[in-house]
Amino acid sequence: MGIELKHIGVIGAGTMGNGIAQVFAQSGYAITLCDVERSTLERALGRIRKNLDREVAKGKITGAEQSATLERIVTVTEREALAACDLVVEAAWEKLETKAELLSHLDRICRAEIILASNTSSISITKLGAVTSRPEKVIGMHFFNPVPVMKLVEVVRGLRTADETFTLIRDLALSLGKTPVEVHDAPGFVSNRVLMPLLNEAMFVVMEGVASAESVDQVFRLGMNHPMGPLELADFIGLDVCLDIMRVLQKGLGDPRYRPCPLLVKMVDAGWLGRKSGQGFYNY
Ligand code: 3HC
Repeated sequence: MGIELKHIGVIGAGTMGNGIAQVFAQSGYAITLCDVERSTLERALGRIRKNLDREVAKGKITGAEQSATLERIVTVTEREALAACDLVVEAAWEKLETKAELLSHLDRICRAEIILASNTSSISITKLGAVTSRPEKVIGMHFFNPVPVMKLVEVVRGLRTADETFTLIRDLALSLGKTPVEVHDAPGFVSNRVLMPLLNEAMFVVMEGVASAESVDQVFRLGMNHPMGPLELADFIGLDVCLDIMRVLQKGLGDPRYRPCPLLVKMVDAGWLGRKSGQGFYNY
């Protein structure tokens, strides 16, 4: 295909978007990070600076490397600024309508040869590809939180994703020091198809009074060597995100075993979204 990827656009500057921008910038790519709110962009830059400060303090990078990384990131509120990019990674809110509108807009403003990658954690890449005029250039590039730490990128092929697109994104993930794993498009892909029902079941266990959140988490930390127990992890991911993914699994797979735990629904209704809201299964 011969397209050289030097300038990467990232749309959405939340938890995932800022992590994605950071790892690309640290690997030498020029980044245009786009979000609707200036305040979100400022918060994202603050987060990236803090992460890099930690790496400088540990002697993993130099102060000069930190400055160079930050200088590679330009923040914008206008999507049109992404038209100059060689690839755009979408990391917006996990809602089909939001992502579909965004991809269809990107399709109109980006050059025809540009790949549009989505960091969706569960939404169909085939569906997202179909709202564009370039479904062969639409692919899932699913990073994991915290992005600078987690090695995996799930590379998701939609039904119409071209082999060249897959190869390019696989190599791109390798250039970031990540390990790409190829999966085909299905609700929740591999990661969330398996992880979310585990977290959801742990919530049922708490709701039914079988054990406290602390006890469930201890079982998984000590019994299975998980770095975080399922409820701690759900709070870390965001309970709203967990609920959105369970709904995608329920709708897409149609099996009642994917029904979201009523306690999860209630907590999200209450605004208890986990770590980011200060309250979830734990108080922060
Ligand atoms: N950003 C950048 N770096 C971070 C970080 C962050 N938010 N949080 C921790 N780190 C770094 C630390 O600096 C430290 O680096 P070092 O090894 O160079 O010193 C390293 O990670 C370990 O951190 P800590 O010692 O402070 O803490 P822990 O040992 O408790 O590790 C953790 C923290 C890495 C978050 C670990 O608890 C963990 O792996 N948890 C599970 C995370 C997980 O499962 N993520 C996937 C979620 S699912 C997902 O994202 C998919 C989505 O679609 C839902």
